[in-house]
Formats: sequence, structure tokens, C-alpha cells
Amino acid sequence: MRLGVCYYPEHWPRERWAADARQMAELGISHVRIGEFAWARFEPEPGRYDWGWFDDAIATLHAAGLKLILGTPTATPPKWLVDRDPSMLAVDADGQVRGFGSRRHYCFSSASYRAECRRIVTAMAERYGEHPAVVMWQTDNEYGCHDTVESYSGSAREAFRDWLAARYGGVATLNAAWGNVFWSMAYRSFDEVDPPVGTVTEPNPSHVVDYQRFCSDQVASFNAEQVEILRRLSPGREITHNFMGAFTAFDHHKVGGDIDLATWDSYPLGFLDMSPFPEDMKQRYLRQGHPDFQAFHHDLYRGCSAKWGVMEQQPGPVNWAPNNPAPLDGMVRLWSLEAFAHGADLVSWFRWRQCPYAQEQMHAGLLRVDAEPAPAFAEARAVARDLEAIKNEVTKPARVALIWSYDGQWIHHAQPQGAGLDLLRQSFETYAVLRRLGLDIDIVSPSAELGDYGMIILPGLPHLPDALMASLKSSSAQIVALCRTGSKTQSFQIPSNLAPGALQDVLDLKVTRVESLREGIVEPVEMHGEQRGVERWREAVETTLPARARYADGEPFWIQDGTVSYLAGWPQTELLGHILATLALEAGIELVLTHEDVRLRNLGNLRFAFNYGPEAVSLSGMAPDGVDYVLGGPDLAPAGVAAWRI
Ligand code: GAL
Repeated sequence: MRLGVCYYPEHWPRERWAADARQMAELGISHVRIGEFAWARFEPEPGRYDWGWFDDAIATLHAAGLKLILGTPTATPPKWLVDRDPSMLAVDADGQVRGFGSRRHYCFSSASYRAECRRIVTAMAERYGEHPAVVMWQTDNEYGCHDTVESYSGSAREAFRDWLAARYGGVATLNAAWGNVFWSMAYRSFDEVDPPVGTVTEPNPSHVVDYQRFCSDQVASFNAEQVEILRRLSPGREITHNFMGAFTAFDHHKVGGDIDLATWDSYPLGFLDMSPFPEDMKQRYLRQGHPDFQAFHHDLYRGCSAKWGVMEQQPGPVNWAPNNPAPLDGMVRLWSLEAFAHGADLVSWFRWRQCPYAQEQMHAGLLRVDAEPAPAFAEARAVARDLEAIKNEVTKPARVALIWSYDGQWIHHAQPQGAGLDLLRQSFETYAVLRRLGLDIDIVSPSAELGDYGMIILPGLPHLPDALMASLKSSSAQIVALCRTGSKTQSFQIPSNLAPGALQDVLDLKVTRVESLREGIVEPVEMHGEQRGVERWREAVETTLPARARYADGEPFWIQDGTVSYLAGWPQTELLGHILATLALEAGIELVLTHEDVRLRNLGNLRFAFNYGPEAVSLSGMAPDGVDYVLGGPDLAPAGVAAWRI
């Protein structure tokens, strides 16, 4: 359980560095991330490196006993590089070049930019790769931030054609996979295929999904080039990349598989303000963030790499959401401890000190602009103390697995077939329902081992790869497939045996008609004599299996075949909670119904409780009386954290 901070020595006078370093160490911080935006200072003129200042910064931090995470600076190519090679810039869907003056101004497909990146990463790794203070590298910074995964440049178009040729072999295969006989869209060669933008009406969804797969592969290979250099020149050091929240434009399982530690940047208040969550939620959790959003990402990124952590933890108001409130006192501590409770290896705050100039001058740090402590400073100190009580615990596999697929999300996105329908939303809502049952959840990829889970949820994965089907067939878990599971082939066609496609191997059922429902429309479902509801999506199925719940008009809704359940519609929270609780109990999984503001999480032999609400909550009913608390106690103040032995 390591504590870190993001620091920019280039923003502060040299005379200040030693005091900063001392204060970080005194606070309990052990790791400092530096360098990720400093290319123009590392190489002020083409080929003229200036490492002296960075050598000194590293030496100063090292002298204070701090360990370093070096960021490769490829998210911010300098002006001279852009002017010399404007073809490296990305192009947006309207054909507009995305120019210099902020960051992430590059196209992942530019071969010349990749060569420049290999050069600067090699130079940096040759200089610092074996420095005793350097323990970790971060590649680039937030791939995809500011919508930068997709580019429609000339280089991207050429690379896409090569990618298609490698995937399909012959253009006739591509035409068949995409169904290009429709609307005379057939191509005579790969060289005729453009990116799917600028069409009169919607482009072919198969084309759209393949473009996303291509763009994702470009991110992965861009990252892999840096990883290869760093592994060679900086042996024994960990490699990370800092992922984002609610971001699905590239396959994080693939990038995560190439690195040692998947980290992510957690800004609970900014995310809530920018999210599509309902207004009452935004008001209730204004200063706390959504009670499930952080945990969802912790569990998602834990499933992406061998280790995981939070590289940037929000310390106060940010600058980038439409509204930027301050956290409730205690929340910076709560967010940090919650990450550790989910098994984080590192939590690092962004940033050490608020910067008085440029784009992020209104973004809080642990220190204020005048170098006095900001409110988060004391909370960071409190976290360092709390770790003493919990540091020996390690995370155990959960009993419940939720299968998440980036490819599945792209398929949903390419043609949602109804407003507000998307796989990420379905996955998140299912996750939130499971957490209200007090459950720990592993969010895993379709190729994960599913051996020991008691319950496995398919939250609408449109395509079920063979490996996933094989794991499902050999599992004895309760399997719950939500509507739209298995509804497309890999090349975005309707399966010839209809939905749920391959799942029909284990479930005797066919979806014969689907409809999407406008917001506010609820289709009643009868369960145990009570009426509950389905919204957004309803399916008609053909089956000889018995239904455990039916629509009010008698059509089947929850159909079960042995241990495999299928839900022919999108259940409202209460109905979904009821079904998942029933199946979890049948699988022998222990449930704890939680208060609406409280979330639980087990770490080793400890159970944590986190109060996201604005009022104090008693843990009675959630924690047995007389337990041995190692943090907090049975009355949880707002932003309170408790942990007890189980
Ligand atoms: C992240 C980014 C940081 C900083 C931060 C501000 O997206 O990685 O460099 O911009 O947001 O909240």
C-alpha cells in the first residue's frame, strides 16, 4: 500500500524542491510521479537535450528518501516538433486538424511521431533507467483524454487499410462480413476503404466497429513500443499507464496486459457533475461523488492488470467540470482508503501544489498556490496513519464476476437501437445493484478464468467469444444473462440462430422480437404477487422453459434453464435487485442489505464500510454488534470510514 503524489518540479523554483521533498516524505508519501509533460524542457531544441535540471530534481527527491515514477512525455510534443512535422497531428471527424496549444496533439497512426516517441523514450530510459530512485515508469498520460483515440488523418486512413487487409485477407471477405451488398457499398480493394466519417447518413455499423477496433489496436501498439524500450533499458522497474473513468474507446484489457500496474485517475466530483446521472443524485452526492463510481473503476482496473492503483486522486475542486464543488471534509481520505479496500497497490494524489498559471490554475493540490496546506493535506496525513492499521491485508477473489468487454461496448455504441442504451450503463447499473446487496464484485474480461465464482453476470455482452462460452459451460455458478446478450456476431450481424446466439448451447431460448422503449415507459412484471417494472428494452422469446417471472400480459421475462437465467428486458433497479439476491442466495453467497449511502468491501480479514451520505449512519444491521473495529466505529459520520475484523 503505497502513497504517492504528482509533482512538477519544472513549475517551481529550484530552491523550493528540497522543502517540497522533505514535506512529502514527512507526510508519509513514498512515491512521486514526475516528468510526464516536460518534453519541451527535456529537449528545448531538436536534438539538444537538457537533462541537468531533471537530474537535480531527481537527486533532490531521492535525497529525501522518495521513489520516483517517471512519466514519458509523449502526451505533449513540443512546438518545434509539430512545426517540423505537421502530419503527426490528429484530424477530427469533420476534417479539422487538432493543433498545438494544449496537449495530446498527435495521431496514434503517425509513423514519424512514433519514431520521435521512441527516440525521446530511449533517451530518457538510457539516462534514468537504472537510477536507484526510479522504481516505475508511466507511459504517456491518459491515452484518449480529450477524445484523442480516434483520428481521421491520412496516416490513420492508410494504417486502417493495412489493418483491414491483415484482418480479412481478401476484400471479398470484408464485403461479406460487413454486408456491403446492402446499398451498393461493396469495395473492389482495401485501398478504397475510408474511415467511417463524412457519410450522408449512418455509416455501416460493421465498418464503425472495425474502425474502433483498429483505433484501439493503434493505442495498444503505441504503448507496446514504449514498453519494449523501458523493459530493455530499465530492467526490474514496474510500468504503468494512467487510465480514466467512464472511458471505453480502447481495449484496456489489451493495454493492461502489457504493463505491470493498471492505474486510473479518480476525480469523483468532476465525474459526477459531468455524468448523465439524475439531478437528485448529483445534488445528494455533490461533495462526495457517486457511491459506486469509484469502486466500479477500482474493480474494473483490478481486472485489467496484475496490480492496479490510483495514479491521480482528486484532492479538492477540479477545474474541468461545468461545476467544481469542494469535497466534503473527510472525502479525500474516504476515496483513498476505499481504493486500498479494493486492493489498490498505490494511491497518488494529483497534485502536490496548485499551479498559479495556465489551464489548470483553478485545480486544487495538497498545497495551495502560496504553499500553505490545502484542506486535503491533513487528510493525506490521516490516510498515511490509517494504513498502519490495514496494511497487511490483501484482496481475495470475489464470489461474483461481472463480465465486461470493450469490444462489446463498441458494438452497442455503433447502433444502440434506443436512446440511452449502452453496455457500460447496463454494467454499471448491475454493479450498483449488486453492491447494495453488500457483495464484492470482480469485473473481468471475457477471457478470464471463471472457475471459482458462485455467480457470473453477462450484462448484455452482444458477442460471446468461444473461450467465454467454454468457461461458462464448465462453470457450476449461477449465470445471469441480461437482455441483448449474444445478439450480434463478431462482425456485427444478427446471429443466424437469433439472439442469444451462442448462449443457446446452454439455454433453450430464442429472442424473436425486440423493442426499445422511450424514457418513462414501464412494462409491468409480476413477481411473487408483486408488480415491478422493465424499462428501455423488452424482448419476446420462444422457449419451452418455465418462466420464474412474467410480464403482466403473460409473456416470459425471467427464464431459467438449470443454472442459466435469461432476462428478456431491462429490469428496473428493484426488480434486478430481487432477481440477483434470489440467485445469489441459491448460489450460497452471503448478502448484507446496505443503507442507501453506505457501501461495504472486504479486504483480507477486514470488512470496510464507507458513508457517502450527507448524514451520519449507524452500522447496525450491516456490522454485527461487538465487533473489533480497526478503523472508526459503529456510528459512521458523513464521509466516515469504518473497518472491522471478520
Ligand atoms: C487528468 C490529467 C492530469 C490533469 C488532471 C486534472 O486528466 O491526467 O494531467 O490534467 O486530469 O484533473
